[in-house]
Amino acid sequence: MTNPTRLVALVTGASRGIGQAIAQRLAPTHDLILAARDARRLEQVAAACRAAGASVDTVSVDLTKPASIAAAFDGRSVDVLVNNAGVAHLKPFLELSAEEWHHQVDVNVNALFHVTRALLPGMVQRGRGHVCIIGSTAGRNTFVGGTCYVGTKHFVMGFAESLMLEVRDAGVGVSVITPGSVATELFPPGTNTTWMLEPGDVAEAVHFAVTTPPAVLVHRLEVRPLSPKRPRRAP
Ligand SMILES: NC(=O)c1ccc[n+]([C@@H]2O[C@H](COP(=O)([O-])OP(=O)(O)OC[C@H]3O[C@@H](n4cnc5c(N)ncnc54)[C@H](OP(=O)(O)O)[C@@H]3O)[C@@H](O)[C@H]2O)c1
Repeated sequence: MTNPTRLVALVTGASRGIGQAIAQRLAPTHDLILAARDARRLEQVAAACRAAGASVDTVSVDLTKPASIAAAFDGRSVDVLVNNAGVAHLKPFLELSAEEWHHQVDVNVNALFHVTRALLPGMVQRGRGHVCIIGSTAGRNTFVGGTCYVGTKHFVMGFAESLMLEVRDAGVGVSVITPGSVATELFPPGTNTTWMLEPGDVAEAVHFAVTTPPAVLVHRLEVRPLSPKRPRRAP
């Protein structure tokens, strides 16, 4: 049961990594709907968020399936939507399979349409709300092995800014947070993550963007490690 005096935030990809950190950062001030496929890990994150004061619903949903997204989210009243879920298959274009290509486009691009389409009408109707999207510095840069992932994150930048221009007059903010490298399971086991940002660093930026004064919109926030050549933790 959600508390009418607290805002409700829905976080996709909340079962681990950056999404888990966002959920835990918002938990003291927001009630939460946490979405991902892994129900067991979602429940663990939910327990930590409840301990921090939030009412929490968990939704086990595969974001590559539009019908499942509609069944999970249509008609829900959400004040803050954090589109965080994402996947990366980083390899040269000629080694990328069609499945890997479609998987990235389905989660990083198409799910943005389906999830936002399910929840934005309610925000516009109520005249308030916030859509926050986790982009990447890969949305401005390019690198070998990034044809599809980089492409999806460039898409995010264009989508976010266009949507922002469409809905800000209706009282709905759109922000995009663009982290550099973050130590999460997005990288294969064995990757040196000692120099990277922590998921909590990105969560702090999300919290900042979605809690500005009512007449202020922070549309774009880039977060980078300060001294990437100086490891901040042991391997
Ligand atoms: N790590 C970085 O260096 C970095 C840098 C910049 C931007 N980002 C972006 O940050 C976001 C989060 O990434 P992360 O680093 O936290 O990665 P992660 O640790 O691999 O977490 C990804 C999350 O997305 C969910 N997800 C993946 N496929 C899904 C699907 N089909 N349906 C529902 N949920 C799905 C996963 O949950 P389940 O597996 O339980 O479904 C998981 O909760 C992504 O958009 C990523 O592109 C990451």
